[in-house]
Amino acid sequence: MKNFSLFALAGLLHVNLWSASNEVLYNSCRFCHGEKGEVNYLGKVEPIKRLDKPSLIILLQSYKKGEIDQIGLGKLMQAQIANFNDADIEQLSNYITSF
Ligand code: HEC
Repeated sequence: MKNFSLFALAGLLHVNLWSASNEVLYNSCRFCHGEKGEVNYLGKVEPIKRLDKPSLIILLQSYKKGEIDQIGLGKLMQAQIANFNDADIEQLSNYITSF
């Protein structure tokens, strides 16, 4: 019984850490794309919450490599995603899909 309680507690802590880091990862994004990915930034970038996970991963990886420039601000987006590794990008994409 004691072991079971510790296991349950570890599970709860894991969930809390997971959601905190989602928010940390998304923290800078919300200034342009909105709290829940709902903003049409500059009236030119469609709300990112409409995108599915595979599209988000492809877009974010491509911005990171400097391969996309849809409205002339690709470099600005590249700077936003520069410090995110593959695991961060996957986690962020999951999180945005949950909005
Ligand atoms: C300073 C404003 C700004 C911030 C902060 C920002 N973005 Fe962007 N984002 C843009 C702009 C501008 C574009 C369009 C760039 C282009 O292609 O010309 C864009 C494009 C995108 C796209 C592609 C949208 C589409 O419809 O194709 C995704 C996905 C995206 N951003 C996700 C993110 C994520 C995730 C973060 C946080 C790590 C982030 N953005 C931070 C301004 C921002």
